[in-house]
Amino acid sequence: MATKKQIYAVLASTVIAAPILFTSPVSAGANTNTIFSKLERQLSVNRIIKDIERLSMDELLEVNKDNARVTGFEGEHEAARYIQGQFDKLGLSTDLLTIDNIDGFIDEGSTCTVDESSITVKTMTYSQPTNETLEGELVYAGLGRVEDFQEGSLDGKIALIERGEISFGEKAKNAYAKGAKGVIIYNNTSGMLNGTLGSLEESKVPTVGMSSEDGSKLVDRLEAGETVKASLKVDTQVRKDSYSYNVVGEIAANKGVKNPQTIVIGAHFDSVSCPGANDNASGTATILEVAKLLSQPQIKSKLQYNVRFVAFGAEEIGLIGSKEYVDQLVKSGEAENIAGMINLDMVGTGDKLVTYNLNDSADHKMTDIAETSIKELGYTYGGHYNSGSSDHAPFEASGIPAVFIQVDKDPYYHTDEDTVDKIDPFNIEMTSKVVLDMVMDMNNKKPQKLDNKIQKTDMLYENQQMPRQ
Ligand code: BES
Ligand code: ZN
Repeated sequence: MATKKQIYAVLASTVIAAPILFTSPVSAGANTNTIFSKLERQLSVNRIIKDIERLSMDELLEVNKDNARVTGFEGEHEAARYIQGQFDKLGLSTDLLTIDNIDGFIDEGSTCTVDESSITVKTMTYSQPTNETLEGELVYAGLGRVEDFQEGSLDGKIALIERGEISFGEKAKNAYAKGAKGVIIYNNTSGMLNGTLGSLEESKVPTVGMSSEDGSKLVDRLEAGETVKASLKVDTQVRKDSYSYNVVGEIAANKGVKNPQTIVIGAHFDSVSCPGANDNASGTATILEVAKLLSQPQIKSKLQYNVRFVAFGAEEIGLIGSKEYVDQLVKSGEAENIAGMINLDMVGTGDKLVTYNLNDSADHKMTDIAETSIKELGYTYGGHYNSGSSDHAPFEASGIPAVFIQVDKDPYYHTDEDTVDKIDPFNIEMTSKVVLDMVMDMNNKKPQKLDNKIQKTDMLYENQQMPRQ
């Protein structure tokens, strides 16, 4: 198939031969393609990388970069104000929507030692801290269901529990009810276990994750009748009853368009306790650049759709920002007028574009448009998957067509190594062009009457483990 670049080459030579083609009012497609190639030339990957740097390093942030934009903390709030400032500068109509009742949690690190050698563990989100180091005998407690605990109390002991079947929060609560003073949950697939207890209310006892490899070695020793003593230290910072923001910036469609539909382009800007350059300063900075390009007067005047940019807060603690945003869209009836949502999350590392929908039954209209753009631009397409782990999910769960675009894969996900030097400018270029091309392709056609099957979103998604089990 001819790539778009090749098509432009052909078009460019046609311009010289037959310029009339481009002045004809019916040749909207050719016209839009001309716009796209102009946007392509104007795109500045450097500007995007600069913004990723600002959002993930100490300069912008009052907090340390290892806690760059943690949900509910000052770094996140500062990032929200920066994003709104950028939308403002572009002349977009902006809104800073407050999200209340957020419990902020920072993992300051945890350690575990057995027989004087240390085993890597990862603090469960919303775990209690230990204050001092805990010392205690390890007790194996299966899957941590009520029936998995043996007779007698676990007073002063540390429960070792396998991942699976019930939530991490329930396992920790059950162990706490038996008197355990610490909980280790080990993975049931290879590698480290990184999870959340769900909320501060669920938090009763210091709880950490461990790899399946380390966990099953300890279980083997306990099953062989050995007494194994462990020590555990968990450091955390909490900010109870805090808040977060969704930041909105909108470019209105050309005034001549009656009742224009809206395209939403979103990315979450909060982070876990890490620099969060790829997750998700990359998506945030990319939507800022797309907003800059599309807000130019000569482009804006050709828009048939409102293009609304939404930077979501509180994603990392359970998609809270996007859920609240979508709930509002549904309540106000606006959800019926959203032509589609494009979600960018982790678009800077790896080497191939992938797309996700919440599930097979969701409307794949936006995914089809994304796939067409990826292929026409000649980029490597890594395929389509199901996922409920980012901000497209609440949109799809409520019946708004959406697509989550990511660049696969990120080996530094949710670690202190998620820094700007890992961002590959080519991935940023690829993602920006795909988004611009999608908008231009939609804009190029007559908007269809929408038939969004809107439903209320007071949901935990049926096919999603949240909090993770
Ligand atoms: N950016 C991630 C999701 C992600 C990770 C997508 C890797 C694709 C590949 C997102 O910020 C995240 O961490 N989500 C949580 C789930 C969410 C519901 C709290 C996750 O995946 O654990
Ligand atoms: Zn993310």
